[in-house]
Amino acid sequence: MAYINDNFLKLKAGYLFPEIARRVKVFQQSHADAKIIRMGIGDVTEPLPPACVTAMHNAVDELARRETFRGYGPEQGYDFLREAIVKNDYLPRSCEVAADEVFISDGSKCDGGNILDIFAKDNSIAVMDPVYPIYVDTNVMAGHTGDADASGEYGGLTYLRCNPENNFTPDLPGKSVNLIYLCFPNNPTGAVASKQTLAKWVDYARSNDAIILYDAAYEAYITDPAIPHSIYEIPGARDVAIEFRSFSKTAGFTGVRCAYTVVPHTLMGKSKDGQQVSLHKLWNRRHNTKFNGVFYAVQRGAEATYSPEGKQQVRALVDFYLANAKIIRESLTQLGLKSYGGVNAPYVWVQTPGKASSWDFFDRLLNETHVVTTPGSGFGKSGEGFFRVSAFNSRENVLEAMQRLKRCI
Ligand code: MLT
Repeated sequence: MAYINDNFLKLKAGYLFPEIARRVKVFQQSHADAKIIRMGIGDVTEPLPPACVTAMHNAVDELARRETFRGYGPEQGYDFLREAIVKNDYLPRSCEVAADEVFISDGSKCDGGNILDIFAKDNSIAVMDPVYPIYVDTNVMAGHTGDADASGEYGGLTYLRCNPENNFTPDLPGKSVNLIYLCFPNNPTGAVASKQTLAKWVDYARSNDAIILYDAAYEAYITDPAIPHSIYEIPGARDVAIEFRSFSKTAGFTGVRCAYTVVPHTLMGKSKDGQQVSLHKLWNRRHNTKFNGVFYAVQRGAEATYSPEGKQQVRALVDFYLANAKIIRESLTQLGLKSYGGVNAPYVWVQTPGKASSWDFFDRLLNETHVVTTPGSGFGKSGEGFFRVSAFNSRENVLEAMQRLKRCI
């Protein structure tokens, strides 16, 4: 019999979103007529921007003709998309990013897990708490942690506590760590980081020879002009940070699948024998070996988000979800619930009433209102006593869900 990767046995619970889906399914079995409103997983509901649809149709038509047919594309992504990203996402913010530092992929979740291929097992790792569960679970699977304790926290990880007292932006670790996961605008709390805050982390990483894994998947939701959209807006970040971005929550590509990761040439790690090694080279090698690129038509669709009409349509989508977030936040505040986020992010982070536990309140909302949320404790210990409401839904559903909550709280 083949041996398994024992690290999987350390995982405490099923992955958060499938666990929610499982509970909802059980509920549905005994409440077949319930009209369930899903505000749990942050999955988009609105149709794709027309500019993307046209570009994808045209690309498929190209593939249908011998003269314009394409087979394997470049593993790292087509130049037309890598260049459009640099021109539109980085140059206007004076970020120094070259097109060949941008790696196109099928998702930030995938990249966030796969990036561990290029890092050793013995790095000390810091994660925000509450945290997008991918960062923790993929480290557990890769054998980078010890066992979980009774509270579900894994040995060897440094948890950076985020709470209302620190505006959900953590303090620097009291010790030296090698890898730091930061996510702003934050999933799940919706918190953002100012330039000063990010500069503090870049300084820390530079002085401690650490690498920051910066998840900026929700940057399009930033409404405050003073908030940086990229970590590369901070001087010196090119030497210490990898940035993850996605078309999922901007152009509604959660099902289409397209994202990108920036790995600057200047970023170095070290080998066991102390040599400096380019992380860009390693990631490129990994891409060449394990990935065959994103579907051509999808990359054309992503490129279309940067056309004048594509930009307008994406902006309209983001504004639509932000307006949902405002409705959610204001409605919950009116109900006397302490709510955070939802201003520069599509998530509203809410304290449960009466100190109810996150899962108890999740079950109560599901049973009494048929509204699905995400229990805060699913994101870590500091998420206990909170729940997350996703603004990704139709306006009709958001308004209906808020009415139902009014009757229950
Ligand atoms: C979430 O709900 O946290 C996100 O949809 C998860 C993801 O983007 O993978």
